[in-house]
Amino acid sequence: ITPDSITIGGKSYPTDKFTNATPTILEKTTRQLHQIPTHPIAIIKNLIESTFPGFKQYDNFSPVVSTKENFDDLCFAEDHPGRAVTDTYYLNEKVMLRTHTSAHQLQVMTESDKMLITADVYRRDEIDSSHYPVFHQMEGAQLFDAKTAVEDIRKEIVADALNTTGSIHTTDATVITPENPKQDCHDEAAMLATVDHLKHTLNRMVRALFAHEKDLQVRWIDAQFPFTSPSWEMEILYQGKWLEVLGSGIIKQDILRNAGKPDKIGWAFGLGLERLALILFGIPDIRLFWSQDERFLRQFEPGTIQKFKAFSKYSPCIKDISFWSTEGFHENNFCEVVRDVAGDIVEDVQLLDEFTHPKTNRRSLCYRINYRSMDRNVTNAEINEIQEKLREEVVNRMKVELR
Ligand code: PHE
Repeated sequence: ITPDSITIGGKSYPTDKFTNATPTILEKTTRQLHQIPTHPIAIIKNLIESTFPGFKQYDNFSPVVSTKENFDDLCFAEDHPGRAVTDTYYLNEKVMLRTHTSAHQLQVMTESDKMLITADVYRRDEIDSSHYPVFHQMEGAQLFDAKTAVEDIRKEIVADALNTTGSIHTTDATVITPENPKQDCHDEAAMLATVDHLKHTLNRMVRALFAHEKDLQVRWIDAQFPFTSPSWEMEILYQGKWLEVLGSGIIKQDILRNAGKPDKIGWAFGLGLERLALILFGIPDIRLFWSQDERFLRQFEPGTIQKFKAFSKYSPCIKDISFWSTEGFHENNFCEVVRDVAGDIVEDVQLLDEFTHPKTNRRSLCYRINYRSMDRNVTNAEINEIQEKLREEVVNRMKVELR
Protein backbone atom coordinates (compact mmCIF):
# COMPACT_ATOMS: atom_id res chain seq x y z
CA ILE A 1 0.00 0.00 0.00
CA THR A 2 3.02 2.36 0.23
CA PRO A 3 3.35 4.54 -2.90
CA ASP A 4 6.76 5.02 -4.60
CA SER A 5 6.92 8.62 -3.51
CA ILE A 6 5.13 11.12 -1.27
CA THR A 7 4.50 14.68 -2.42
CA ILE A 8 4.11 17.35 0.19
CA GLY A 9 4.39 21.14 -0.14
CA GLY A 10 5.15 20.70 -3.85
CA LYS A 11 8.17 18.46 -3.17
CA SER A 12 8.41 14.77 -3.79
CA TYR A 13 10.18 12.30 -1.49
CA PRO A 14 11.01 8.69 -2.39
CA THR A 15 9.59 6.14 0.07
CA ASP A 16 11.40 3.14 1.57
CA LYS A 17 10.89 0.56 4.31
CA PHE A 18 10.85 3.34 6.95
CA THR A 19 7.89 5.13 5.39
CA ASN A 20 4.98 5.25 7.85
CA ALA A 21 3.37 8.67 7.28
CA THR A 22 -0.20 8.00 6.19
CA PRO A 23 -2.45 10.13 3.96
CA THR A 24 -4.60 10.99 7.00
CA ILE A 25 -1.56 12.54 8.68
CA LEU A 26 -0.16 14.21 5.58
CA GLU A 27 -3.49 15.98 5.01
CA LYS A 28 -3.07 17.72 8.35
CA THR A 29 0.04 19.56 7.14
CA THR A 30 -2.15 21.86 5.07
CA ARG A 31 -4.24 23.12 8.01
CA GLN A 32 -1.75 25.44 9.80
CA LEU A 33 -4.12 26.17 12.70
CA HIS A 34 -1.62 28.54 14.32
CA GLN A 35 -2.02 30.93 11.40
CA ILE A 36 -5.81 31.30 11.65
CA PRO A 37 -6.22 34.45 13.82
CA THR A 38 -9.55 33.40 15.37
CA HIS A 39 -8.40 29.88 16.23
CA PRO A 40 -7.65 29.18 19.94
CA ILE A 41 -4.17 27.85 19.03
CA ALA A 42 -3.33 31.13 17.25
CA ILE A 43 -4.87 33.23 20.04
CA ILE A 44 -2.57 31.59 22.61
CA LYS A 45 0.40 31.89 20.25
CA ASN A 46 -0.22 35.61 19.77
CA LEU A 47 -0.66 36.21 23.50
CA ILE A 48 2.63 34.47 24.22
CA GLU A 49 4.40 36.37 21.46
CA SER A 50 3.26 39.63 23.00
CA THR A 51 5.21 38.78 26.16
CA PHE A 52 8.45 38.46 24.16
CA PRO A 53 9.03 41.94 22.73
CA GLY A 54 11.94 42.14 20.31
CA PHE A 55 11.95 38.43 19.52
CA LYS A 56 12.03 37.49 15.85
CA GLN A 57 9.01 35.33 14.98
CA TYR A 58 8.99 32.32 12.69
CA ASP A 59 5.79 30.36 12.01
CA ASN A 60 6.09 29.21 8.47
CA PHE A 61 8.62 26.37 8.29
CA SER A 62 7.77 23.22 6.36
CA PRO A 63 6.96 20.27 8.66
CA VAL A 64 9.27 18.08 6.57
CA VAL A 65 12.77 17.99 8.10
CA SER A 66 15.79 15.72 7.96
CA THR A 67 16.60 13.30 10.76
CA LYS A 68 19.79 15.38 11.09
CA GLU A 69 17.79 18.54 11.90
CA ASN A 70 15.31 16.82 14.21
CA PHE A 71 17.79 14.57 16.08
CA ASP A 72 21.52 14.59 15.17
CA ASP A 73 22.05 18.37 15.28
CA LEU A 74 20.38 18.37 18.71
CA CYS A 75 22.72 15.75 20.17
CA PHE A 76 20.15 12.91 20.30
CA ALA A 77 21.91 9.57 20.87
CA GLU A 78 21.86 7.11 17.99
CA ASP A 79 19.52 4.81 19.98
CA HIS A 80 17.26 7.50 21.48
CA PRO A 81 13.67 6.14 21.69
CA GLY A 82 12.29 9.27 19.99
CA ARG A 83 13.82 8.04 16.75
CA ALA A 84 11.75 4.81 16.73
CA VAL A 85 9.38 4.23 13.82
CA THR A 86 6.69 3.52 16.40
CA ASP A 87 6.97 7.12 17.71
CA THR A 88 7.86 9.22 14.66
CA TYR A 89 6.42 9.69 11.18
CA TYR A 90 8.99 9.01 8.47
CA LEU A 91 8.70 9.84 4.77
CA ASN A 92 11.83 7.75 4.35
CA GLU A 93 14.92 6.79 6.34
CA LYS A 94 16.37 10.32 6.32
CA VAL A 95 13.29 12.53 5.97
CA MET A 96 10.51 12.89 8.54
CA LEU A 97 7.77 15.10 9.95
CA ARG A 98 9.33 17.16 12.78
CA THR A 99 8.50 15.89 16.26
CA HIS A 100 9.35 19.23 17.88
CA THR A 101 10.07 22.85 16.98
CA SER A 102 13.64 22.36 18.26
CA ALA A 103 14.31 20.92 14.78
CA HIS A 104 14.67 24.54 13.60
CA GLN A 105 16.84 25.84 16.47
CA LEU A 106 20.19 25.56 14.74
CA GLN A 107 19.05 27.13 11.49
CA VAL A 108 17.38 30.08 13.25
CA MET A 109 20.23 30.66 15.71
CA THR A 110 22.60 31.38 12.84
CA GLU A 111 20.56 34.50 12.06
CA SER A 112 19.01 35.64 15.32
CA ASP A 113 19.77 35.99 19.06
CA LYS A 114 16.13 36.24 20.21
CA MET A 115 13.71 33.94 18.48
CA LEU A 116 10.26 32.36 18.71
CA ILE A 117 9.34 29.47 16.43
CA THR A 118 5.76 28.19 16.16
CA ALA A 119 4.84 25.10 14.18
CA ASP A 120 2.71 22.00 13.85
CA VAL A 121 4.58 18.92 15.13
CA TYR A 122 3.86 15.22 14.60
CA ARG A 123 4.11 12.26 16.96
CA ARG A 124 2.62 8.79 16.76
CA ASP A 125 0.54 8.22 19.85
CA GLU A 126 -2.45 6.62 21.52
CA ILE A 127 -6.01 7.94 21.10
CA ASP A 128 -7.85 9.82 23.84
CA SER A 129 -9.24 13.27 24.63
CA SER A 130 -5.81 14.85 25.20
CA HIS A 131 -3.68 13.09 22.55
CA TYR A 132 -3.64 13.81 18.84
CA PRO A 133 -0.88 12.86 16.38
CA VAL A 134 -0.49 16.50 15.36
CA PHE A 135 -0.12 19.35 17.80
CA HIS A 136 1.51 22.76 17.97
CA GLN A 137 4.63 23.88 19.74
CA MET A 138 6.34 27.16 20.40
CA GLU A 139 10.06 27.29 20.82
CA GLY A 140 11.89 30.28 22.25
CA ALA A 141 15.56 31.00 22.69
CA GLN A 142 17.75 33.92 23.68
CA LEU A 143 21.52 34.23 23.38
CA PHE A 144 23.89 36.50 25.31
CA ASP A 145 27.57 37.36 24.98
CA ALA A 146 29.19 34.88 27.36
CA LYS A 147 31.74 37.47 28.57
CA THR A 148 29.21 40.13 29.60
CA ALA A 149 26.17 37.92 30.33
CA VAL A 150 26.18 38.50 34.11
CA GLU A 151 26.06 42.30 33.81
CA ASP A 152 23.75 42.40 30.78
CA ILE A 153 21.22 40.08 32.36
CA ARG A 154 21.24 41.84 35.74
CA LYS A 155 20.43 45.16 34.08
CA GLU A 156 17.64 43.66 31.99
CA ILE A 157 15.98 41.87 34.91
CA VAL A 158 16.10 44.98 37.12
CA ALA A 159 14.58 47.14 34.38
CA ASP A 160 11.86 44.58 33.75
CA ALA A 161 10.98 44.17 37.44
CA LEU A 162 10.21 47.91 37.59
CA ASN A 163 7.39 47.68 35.07
CA THR A 164 5.91 44.37 36.19
CA THR A 165 2.66 43.99 38.08
CA GLY A 166 0.98 41.00 39.70
CA SER A 167 2.43 38.35 41.95
CA ILE A 168 3.75 34.90 41.32
CA HIS A 169 4.91 32.22 43.72
CA THR A 170 7.82 30.28 42.43
CA THR A 171 10.60 28.12 43.74
CA ASP A 172 13.37 30.18 42.27
CA ALA A 173 16.47 28.76 43.95
CA THR A 174 18.52 27.06 41.26
CA VAL A 175 20.37 24.00 42.50
CA ILE A 176 22.87 22.41 40.14
CA THR A 177 23.37 18.68 40.76
CA PRO A 178 25.56 16.02 39.14
CA GLU A 179 22.40 14.59 37.56
CA ASN A 180 21.55 17.93 35.97
CA PRO A 181 24.99 19.37 35.41
CA LYS A 182 26.55 22.60 34.25
CA GLN A 183 28.45 22.19 30.98
CA ASP A 184 32.23 22.15 31.55
CA CYS A 185 32.79 24.92 29.02
CA HIS A 186 30.52 27.36 30.87
CA ASP A 187 31.51 29.95 33.43
CA GLU A 188 29.33 29.25 36.48
CA ALA A 189 28.26 32.86 37.05
CA ALA A 190 27.30 33.37 33.40
CA MET A 191 25.33 30.12 33.38
CA LEU A 192 23.45 30.97 36.61
CA ALA A 193 22.62 34.44 35.28
CA THR A 194 21.26 32.87 32.09
CA VAL A 195 19.11 30.49 34.18
CA ASP A 196 17.77 33.47 36.15
CA HIS A 197 16.88 35.18 32.91
CA LEU A 198 15.19 32.05 31.57
CA LYS A 199 13.05 31.63 34.67
CA HIS A 200 12.26 35.33 34.90
CA THR A 201 11.15 35.48 31.27
CA LEU A 202 9.01 32.35 31.43
CA ASN A 203 7.46 33.31 34.78
CA ARG A 204 6.43 36.58 33.16
CA MET A 205 4.96 34.70 30.21
CA VAL A 206 2.72 32.37 32.29
CA ARG A 207 1.66 35.20 34.52
CA ALA A 208 0.35 37.03 31.45
CA LEU A 209 -1.43 33.92 30.17
CA PHE A 210 -3.04 33.13 33.52
CA ALA A 211 -3.82 36.77 34.31
CA HIS A 212 -7.12 35.74 35.95
CA GLU A 213 -5.37 33.46 38.51
CA LYS A 214 -4.68 35.76 41.44
CA ASP A 215 -2.13 33.50 42.98
CA LEU A 216 -0.34 31.51 40.31
CA GLN A 217 1.98 28.79 41.66
CA VAL A 218 4.94 27.82 39.54
CA ARG A 219 7.65 25.24 40.15
CA TRP A 220 10.77 24.21 38.27
CA ILE A 221 11.57 20.49 38.16
CA ASP A 222 14.91 19.02 37.06
CA ALA A 223 14.61 17.49 33.59
CA GLN A 224 16.71 16.00 30.84
CA PHE A 225 16.90 16.91 27.15
CA PRO A 226 19.69 15.93 24.77
CA PHE A 227 20.15 19.55 23.65
CA THR A 228 20.19 21.45 26.98
CA SER A 229 22.09 21.16 30.26
CA PRO A 230 21.11 21.88 32.90
CA SER A 231 17.40 21.45 32.07
CA TRP A 232 14.06 22.06 33.78
CA GLU A 233 10.36 21.60 33.27
CA MET A 234 8.05 24.31 34.43
CA GLU A 235 4.89 23.20 36.17
CA ILE A 236 1.97 25.31 37.32
CA LEU A 237 -0.62 24.47 39.94
CA TYR A 238 -3.92 24.41 38.12
CA GLN A 239 -7.17 23.30 39.77
CA GLY A 240 -5.23 21.42 42.43
CA LYS A 241 -2.92 19.54 40.05
CA TRP A 242 0.65 20.24 38.94
CA LEU A 243 0.59 20.60 35.20
CA GLU A 244 3.67 20.42 33.02
CA VAL A 245 3.82 23.49 30.79
CA LEU A 246 7.20 23.48 29.10
CA GLY A 247 10.71 22.07 28.83
CA SER A 248 13.71 24.34 28.99
CA GLY A 249 17.40 24.67 29.72
CA ILE A 250 20.80 26.05 28.87
CA ILE A 251 21.59 25.34 25.22
CA LYS A 252 24.34 22.78 24.61
CA GLN A 253 27.38 24.70 23.51
CA ASP A 254 27.99 22.37 20.55
CA ILE A 255 24.78 23.71 19.00
CA LEU A 256 25.94 27.32 19.37
CA ARG A 257 29.33 26.38 17.89
CA ASN A 258 27.60 24.74 14.93
CA ALA A 259 25.48 27.88 14.53
CA GLY A 260 28.70 29.92 14.27
CA LYS A 261 28.19 31.51 17.71
CA PRO A 262 30.82 29.94 19.99
CA ASP A 263 31.10 33.06 22.20
CA LYS A 264 27.42 33.14 23.17
CA ILE A 265 25.57 31.47 26.01
CA GLY A 266 21.81 30.92 25.79
CA TRP A 267 18.60 29.43 27.05
CA ALA A 268 15.83 27.68 25.11
CA PHE A 269 12.33 26.42 25.91
CA GLY A 270 9.59 24.53 24.09
CA LEU A 271 5.92 24.41 25.00
CA GLY A 272 2.80 22.70 23.69
CA LEU A 273 0.03 25.10 22.69
CA GLU A 274 -2.84 22.57 22.81
CA ARG A 275 -2.35 21.81 26.47
CA LEU A 276 -2.56 25.50 27.36
CA ALA A 277 -5.48 26.17 25.01
CA LEU A 278 -7.46 23.18 26.39
CA ILE A 279 -7.36 24.53 29.92
CA LEU A 280 -7.52 28.25 29.21
CA PHE A 281 -10.53 27.97 26.88
CA GLY A 282 -12.07 25.01 28.74
CA ILE A 283 -12.12 22.84 25.61
CA PRO A 284 -13.06 19.24 26.53
CA ASP A 285 -11.57 17.30 23.61
CA ILE A 286 -8.42 17.87 21.56
CA ARG A 287 -10.21 16.84 18.33
CA LEU A 288 -12.23 20.05 18.52
CA PHE A 289 -9.20 22.09 17.43
CA TRP A 290 -9.47 20.34 14.07
CA SER A 291 -13.21 20.83 13.75
CA GLN A 292 -14.46 22.71 10.69
CA ASP A 293 -17.81 23.24 12.40
CA GLU A 294 -18.85 26.90 12.49
CA ARG A 295 -20.26 26.37 15.98
CA PHE A 296 -16.68 25.89 17.09
CA LEU A 297 -14.83 28.31 14.82
CA ARG A 298 -17.19 31.26 15.33
CA GLN A 299 -16.80 31.30 19.11
CA PHE A 300 -13.40 32.95 19.36
CA GLU A 301 -11.90 36.38 18.86
CA PRO A 302 -8.28 37.39 18.46
CA GLY A 303 -6.69 38.66 21.69
CA THR A 304 -9.24 37.22 24.12
CA ILE A 305 -9.53 34.01 26.05
CA GLN A 306 -13.19 33.13 26.53
CA LYS A 307 -14.67 29.90 27.81
CA PHE A 308 -15.79 27.45 25.16
CA LYS A 309 -19.56 26.92 25.03
CA ALA A 310 -20.15 23.25 24.39
CA PHE A 311 -22.62 22.28 21.74
CA SER A 312 -24.60 19.24 22.75
CA LYS A 313 -22.71 16.04 23.33
CA TYR A 314 -23.73 13.37 20.87
CA SER A 315 -24.21 9.74 21.79
CA PRO A 316 -21.26 7.37 21.74
CA CYS A 317 -21.16 4.00 20.04
CA ILE A 318 -18.86 1.46 21.63
CA LYS A 319 -17.27 -1.49 19.81
CA ASP A 320 -14.69 -4.02 20.95
CA ILE A 321 -12.13 -5.81 18.83
CA SER A 322 -10.11 -8.84 19.96
CA PHE A 323 -7.18 -10.49 18.26
CA TRP A 324 -4.10 -12.65 18.74
CA SER A 325 -1.22 -10.21 18.62
CA THR A 326 2.08 -10.72 16.81
CA GLU A 327 5.73 -10.39 17.88
CA GLY A 328 6.27 -6.77 16.76
CA PHE A 329 2.86 -5.47 17.80
CA HIS A 330 2.85 -1.86 18.99
CA GLU A 331 -0.23 -0.02 20.24
CA ASN A 332 0.73 3.11 18.24
CA ASN A 333 0.57 1.06 15.02
CA PHE A 334 -2.88 -0.19 15.96
CA CYS A 335 -4.06 3.37 16.71
CA GLU A 336 -2.68 4.47 13.35
CA VAL A 337 -4.93 1.98 11.55
CA VAL A 338 -7.87 3.18 13.66
CA ARG A 339 -7.19 6.81 12.70
CA ASP A 340 -6.78 5.91 9.08
CA VAL A 341 -10.00 3.97 8.84
CA ALA A 342 -12.22 6.00 11.16
CA GLY A 343 -10.59 9.44 11.51
CA ASP A 344 -11.76 11.92 14.13
CA ILE A 345 -14.95 9.99 14.83
CA VAL A 346 -12.95 7.94 17.36
CA GLU A 347 -12.87 9.57 20.77
CA ASP A 348 -10.91 7.00 22.68
CA VAL A 349 -9.11 3.65 22.31
CA GLN A 350 -8.50 1.58 25.42
CA LEU A 351 -6.87 -1.75 26.07
CA LEU A 352 -9.67 -3.60 27.83
CA ASP A 353 -8.16 -7.01 28.34
CA GLU A 354 -4.92 -8.85 27.74
CA PHE A 355 -3.89 -12.43 28.40
CA THR A 356 -1.36 -15.00 27.28
CA HIS A 357 -2.63 -18.43 26.40
CA PRO A 358 -0.91 -20.90 28.79
CA LYS A 359 -0.36 -23.58 26.14
CA THR A 360 0.33 -21.70 22.89
CA ASN A 361 1.95 -18.69 24.58
CA ARG A 362 0.02 -16.46 22.17
CA ARG A 363 -1.02 -13.06 23.48
CA SER A 364 -4.62 -11.98 23.10
CA LEU A 365 -5.61 -8.31 23.18
CA CYS A 366 -9.02 -6.73 23.38
CA TYR A 367 -9.41 -3.04 22.58
CA ARG A 368 -12.50 -0.96 23.23
CA ILE A 369 -13.16 1.74 20.67
CA ASN A 370 -15.38 4.61 21.63
CA TYR A 371 -16.90 6.20 18.52
CA ARG A 372 -18.49 9.61 18.95
CA SER A 373 -18.82 12.46 16.52
CA MET A 374 -18.43 15.99 17.81
CA ASP A 375 -21.08 17.44 15.52
CA ARG A 376 -23.82 14.86 14.96
CA ASN A 377 -25.33 11.58 16.14
CA VAL A 378 -23.83 8.51 14.55
CA THR A 379 -25.95 5.48 13.64
CA ASN A 380 -25.11 1.97 14.73
CA ALA A 381 -25.27 0.85 11.09
CA GLU A 382 -22.67 3.37 10.00
CA ILE A 383 -20.33 2.48 12.87
CA ASN A 384 -20.75 -1.23 12.15
CA GLU A 385 -19.54 -0.55 8.65
CA ILE A 386 -16.47 1.32 9.93
CA GLN A 387 -15.77 -1.39 12.49
CA GLU A 388 -15.99 -4.06 9.78
CA LYS A 389 -13.51 -2.13 7.65
CA LEU A 390 -11.25 -1.71 10.68
CA ARG A 391 -11.29 -5.47 11.33
CA GLU A 392 -10.20 -6.07 7.74
CA GLU A 393 -7.46 -3.45 7.79
CA VAL A 394 -6.06 -4.59 11.13
CA VAL A 395 -5.65 -8.08 9.66
CA ASN A 396 -4.17 -6.76 6.38
CA ARG A 397 -1.71 -4.33 7.85
CA MET A 398 -0.80 -5.87 11.19
CA LYS A 399 -1.05 -9.55 10.31
CA VAL A 400 -2.92 -10.31 13.53
CA GLU A 401 -5.58 -12.99 13.80
CA LEU A 402 -9.04 -11.83 14.85
CA ARG A 403 -10.77 -13.78 17.59
N1 PHE B 1 11.78 20.05 22.32
C1 PHE B 1 11.42 19.70 23.66
C2 PHE B 1 10.17 18.81 23.62
O1 PHE B 1 9.49 18.76 22.62
C3 PHE B 1 11.16 20.91 24.53
C4 PHE B 1 12.39 21.75 24.76
C5 PHE B 1 12.71 22.81 23.91
C6 PHE B 1 13.21 21.51 25.86
C7 PHE B 1 13.83 23.59 24.15
C8 PHE B 1 14.32 22.29 26.11
C9 PHE B 1 14.63 23.33 25.25
O2 PHE B 1 9.84 18.15 24.58
